[in-house]
Amino acid sequence: MNVRILKGTILSAPRLGELEALENGYLVARDGIIRGTYRELPAEYRNCPVEDFGDDLILQSFSDMHLHGPQYPMIGLGLDQELLGWLSTYTWPTEAKFADAVYARQVYGQLARELVKNGTTRVCMFSSLHTDATLVLMQELERAGITGFVGKVNMDRNGGESLQETTQESQEETLRWLESCKDFKNIRPILTPRFSPSCTEELMGFLGNLAAERNLPIQSHLSESRGEIAWVKELFPDCPTYHATYQKHGLWRDRTLMAHCVWSDEEELRAMKEAGVWVVHCADSNSNLRSGIAPIRKMLDMGVSVVLGSDISGGDKLNVFDILDATVKVSKLRSAYDAESPRQLSVAEAWYLASSAANLWFGEQPGFAPGNRLNAMVVADDALLSSQSLTPEQRLERLVYRRQENAIRAVFSGTERLDL
Ligand code: GUN
Ligand code: FE
Repeated sequence: MNVRILKGTILSAPRLGELEALENGYLVARDGIIRGTYRELPAEYRNCPVEDFGDDLILQSFSDMHLHGPQYPMIGLGLDQELLGWLSTYTWPTEAKFADAVYARQVYGQLARELVKNGTTRVCMFSSLHTDATLVLMQELERAGITGFVGKVNMDRNGGESLQETTQESQEETLRWLESCKDFKNIRPILTPRFSPSCTEELMGFLGNLAAERNLPIQSHLSESRGEIAWVKELFPDCPTYHATYQKHGLWRDRTLMAHCVWSDEEELRAMKEAGVWVVHCADSNSNLRSGIAPIRKMLDMGVSVVLGSDISGGDKLNVFDILDATVKVSKLRSAYDAESPRQLSVAEAWYLASSAANLWFGEQPGFAPGNRLNAMVVADDALLSSQSLTPEQRLERLVYRRQENAIRAVFSGTERLDL
């Protein structure tokens, strides 16, 4: 039996907008599963070693619920265009290079390490359309101790010369991929039609059937930019809304993750709530690609489930605190202009979306609840350098707003302390 006991200032998000702090507390996990947080160490653990992190914060680590592995080489570049131009100018050629699995190994090993270093232990990630490189990505994430889902991307139209499969190839390769990834322990497959403009209706129908037959989750993009929405209208003349293109083919299911939803109107949001579809909010990407600001407050008020993503490389930030900074800042801007979203997101609310809301998607409870897999990090912030002493809540606030290099000192996933 593997017992891990972490001691420090434990801070978690048990409910939207609320933080729970426990100073000099103990977080106990057995065989990688959380048993509880305690003010006093229970007698049964008295003889177990304690990893004492003093005044450091012990926080839930980040679940990055939307990012593109093969866009990592172009992170921070080519952000001078809006979505559709950005895809054809920069994204297709960058992703096309992942036909080479040796190149993929090099890039994905580095990406996995950078994610861990920046406080991410769980992901829902897009690969490229290449099956072999997708398997490499899954291997590298698993090796780094990251858990979650990866999808081989399906795209059988509008990808240009360099990045497109035939419908038949896409179907056959998806089946080959699903067959080949049965041996992974902690990284599982998620069906990934890139977005409606990338997929023929035949391919979408195939994926919808596969999701139902094998009970597989789905991730895609929805209502990200106005140019994209207009294009979807042209491509699907019989669909009254963007989401109807997914609904029509069985892709609009419980737990389907839809990235962005910047321009989703009330009808689309209601359809999400009814079907159990989740929004992945990617604030930094939506700023970079000039897509807009998603109405997150309205979504939350309507009871739609929201999680966060870096959307590398539409987004250029993969550090959890940078993502939260972007999330809170765009929310303030939207609230300044939008009478329907008068309340900005607080730091505590954004923190909940980055951690606990994702727990729910993965079938767990919010916060460091007993029964959850251990996903945690130790953060040595510079609160102790200031003469006034800060509360744990203030320390989180400062971590979000003020970049603190190398503050993340240890990262835990299941039974493992991960290499930084
Ligand atoms: N829509 C379709 N593909 C993509 C992508 O790679 N990034 C973003 N941000 N939106 C997309
Ligand atoms: Fe994306």
